[in-house]
Amino acid sequence: MIRCENTVKRYGERTVLDIKELTVNKGSSVALTGANGSGKSTLLKIIAGTTAFEGTVRASGRILYMPQKIIAFDMSVLSNVTFSLKGRKSEKEERAMAALSRVGLKELYKKNALTLSGGECARLSLARILVNDCDILLLDEPTGAVDIEGTEIIENTVREYISEKERTLIIATHSPLQAKRMADRVIMLQKGSIVEDCSPDELLKAPSTEFGKKFVDMWRY
Ligand SMILES: Nc1ncnc2c1ncn2[C@@H]1O[C@H](COP(=O)(O)OP(=O)(O)O)[C@@H](O)[C@H]1O
Ligand SMILES: [Mg+2]
Repeated sequence: MIRCENTVKRYGERTVLDIKELTVNKGSSVALTGANGSGKSTLLKIIAGTTAFEGTVRASGRILYMPQKIIAFDMSVLSNVTFSLKGRKSEKEERAMAALSRVGLKELYKKNALTLSGGECARLSLARILVNDCDILLLDEPTGAVDIEGTEIIENTVREYISEKERTLIIATHSPLQAKRMADRVIMLQKGSIVEDCSPDELLKAPSTEFGKKFVDMWRY
């Protein structure tokens, strides 16, 4: 479970996130949506524990976090996954290959990661975290720079992973349709506050705010 209470993030004078109350139940899938700059990444960073904030956030269980800025290191695709693992080399490589295979990158394991396309890089980034176990998975626009085929691979891989056991997912996305494919609940942020909190179908059919309407019309794909 994740629980935020009076969670606030300020940069100087400016408040970029102000969440009065938010509970995400164990095993649920939440799509976090809203315009650029609405605070999606900030909220994920706060839950992941990578940025300071005011207020309370409680998250129970192990968290895996895929940041919006994807990083590939100047080494092989395989080493990009194994480098953070502990254990015998053969075991690490076996786990990494299984993760690469999940995201359809098995054949490219020897390739230098810097030569990958944007979409392949996003899949590598996903393999790097999904090689581990977790209770809470936080994904920040994992398909932001990915084509349709890559998006399908990422979505399927994530769905499979979260259904393996009772894992909680929060995925930041611009697409209400991706929200429908991936989540049972959509939370929409506007200027750092929650303005919609409903099912993806409810959001697509009848957003309760003007902003929600505009947003859904703009991103109806
Ligand atoms: N390091 C920072 N310094 C100052 N402002 C920041 C910093 N990081 C993010 N912001 C601001 O916080 C707001 C929310 O950003 P972000 O959470 O990245 O939005 P989103 O992910 O929804 O696009 C934006 O207006 C952004 O400019
Ligand atoms: Mg962001």
